[in-house]
Amino acid sequence: MITDYLIIGSGIAGLSLALKLSESGTVSIITKKQKAESNTNYAQGGVAAVMDENDNFQLHIADTLECGAGLCNKEAVKKIVYDGPARINELIEFGANFTRLRDELILGKEGGHSRNRIIHAKDLTGKEIERALLDKIARSENIEIYEFYFAIDLLTVKNIKRKNKNGKKCFGIYALNVKNNKVEKIIAGKTIIATGGAGQVYKHTTNPAIATGDGIAMGYRAGCEIANMEFIQFHPTTLYEQRNNDISAQVFLISEAVRGAGAVLKTIKGKEFMQKYDRRKSLAPRDIVARAIDNEMKKSGDPYVCLDLKNIEPERIKKEFPNIYKYCLGKGIDITKQVIPVVPAAHYSCGGIVTDLNGRTNIENLYASGEVTMTGVHGANRLASNSLLEAMVFSNAIFEDVRRETHDVRRQIADKKSNSKELKKIYDNIYNWNEDETENTEEWILISHNKKEIKEIMSDYVGIVRNTIRLERAYRRVKMMKDEIEDFYKKTKVNVDLLELRNLVTVAYLIIVSAMQRKESRGLHYMLDYPKRDDKKYLTDTMLVKS
Ligand code: FAD
Ligand code: SIN
Repeated sequence: MITDYLIIGSGIAGLSLALKLSESGTVSIITKKQKAESNTNYAQGGVAAVMDENDNFQLHIADTLECGAGLCNKEAVKKIVYDGPARINELIEFGANFTRLRDELILGKEGGHSRNRIIHAKDLTGKEIERALLDKIARSENIEIYEFYFAIDLLTVKNIKRKNKNGKKCFGIYALNVKNNKVEKIIAGKTIIATGGAGQVYKHTTNPAIATGDGIAMGYRAGCEIANMEFIQFHPTTLYEQRNNDISAQVFLISEAVRGAGAVLKTIKGKEFMQKYDRRKSLAPRDIVARAIDNEMKKSGDPYVCLDLKNIEPERIKKEFPNIYKYCLGKGIDITKQVIPVVPAAHYSCGGIVTDLNGRTNIENLYASGEVTMTGVHGANRLASNSLLEAMVFSNAIFEDVRRETHDVRRQIADKKSNSKELKKIYDNIYNWNEDETENTEEWILISHNKKEIKEIMSDYVGIVRNTIRLERAYRRVKMMKDEIEDFYKKTKVNVDLLELRNLVTVAYLIIVSAMQRKESRGLHYMLDYPKRDDKKYLTDTMLVKS
């Protein structure tokens, strides 16, 4: 396949960018499962943006910076906040129906926000955004979506004459066509990684099975800078339920918007506890609430805490949170009358592939957008509902950057001709995937066992509360598994399970190594043996680059 723009991933970052880039060339989106299957599709609370006269940009900036615990890049934060209203209006133009009262958008509230500023579609915001973007794409020319294509690795060439830092240039990827089990090369003028997060590296996660950190692992192998991987956000409130045997199953989220509407956290015995931890109580930022719940559960030995919705009118619950109401009812809990048993679960990766304010990585012609990135917006802890916003704003920035490059129409036409010739030449020169000396594996047990073990190590030793001994133990085990899996990978014909395992172990390794480097507590990274924040030594991002 040869294409002007290759977008890997069909969540909000990939789809919103595709619609724009299609103005100036052919866009191919590849996605590893069905096109709607993404973290975006499960987003509940909404998108944060300043859309009300009682709110202003400075407040949204201040809330984001406070939550980020000193590590946000202020320019990146200003960028998403100032650009927010334009991106929301664009989504509405694309066809997204957000919750309104008569003509006015209803704005919800979530932890860490000093104002109501969450634009939402009941409690199914992500589904509505995904639907609107996919519908618009179905009506667009120049965009092709390839489902069940799994990006394996980036194709890069080293060119010492290039001005960028590592002298590398990207030409596309190798991808597994899952339906016929063949590896294909996809050559592209520009490649954009929009593969989302890595929640599946933990045992309990809100993320769907696709979230195996493929983009981060792929970027790391290719030489991208990876930063701040220690900052994994645990969502405080997910439904506590008995799990089935599927180790990749996601847990069900109880949106923070429910606490925004008045729900309160209590112990099983019915005692409120958040007042002991923060003046904002149940609506404190997520790191504080998740740690408080973890602490209460450890102290009492209880397997969960409770979310009590008795302050919210039953009719309001059914109207504003119909999905949560229905799901819980299906599990035998009538949330208009009963408390919800909740536990924290891995939710969001604040770290990822480093980009500049235009979405560029350190590799020429390679961009990244969405949860896979570290743009500087979130610092040590993401403010609720800032990630859908960040994805849209940075995808728009990539579009602007590409447009600037091809500004002059005449140059664009001339460039296009030489570009397609150049791409064809590259296609002919790049080796086909070589499967010689690899075998089909019979070792399925090894793959599923390793996946389970990684999740257990990460949940037991690299969770909400960490310490040096636990991290060192996790490092020893994961490093050994990483080497073994890489060895196994080289000898084996690829398939989705093996590729995901290779990526999961790489991401686990990056999280542990980053966590070991930060000997302090900040935002989402809490170390029992270094309980204080140390601005003298650690007011800086944790950077990793493959040597
Ligand atoms: P995704 O939406 O995850 O899309 C990634 C895409 O890449 C998918 O299509 C996937 O299949 C594809 N992909 C991955 N690897 C490969 C590969 N190797 N080859 C090919 N394709 C690949 N954020 C908010 O701001 N507000 C909210 O209310 C909110 N609620 C949330 C609720 C839940 C339950 C979850 C899980 C997250 C929530 N978040 C929320 C976070 C937010 O949804 C995500 O950060 C955001 O959707 C990420 O968008 P994305 O486009 O970067 O990635
Ligand atoms: C939620 O609805 O609680 C999730 C919001 C987010 O992750 O930003």
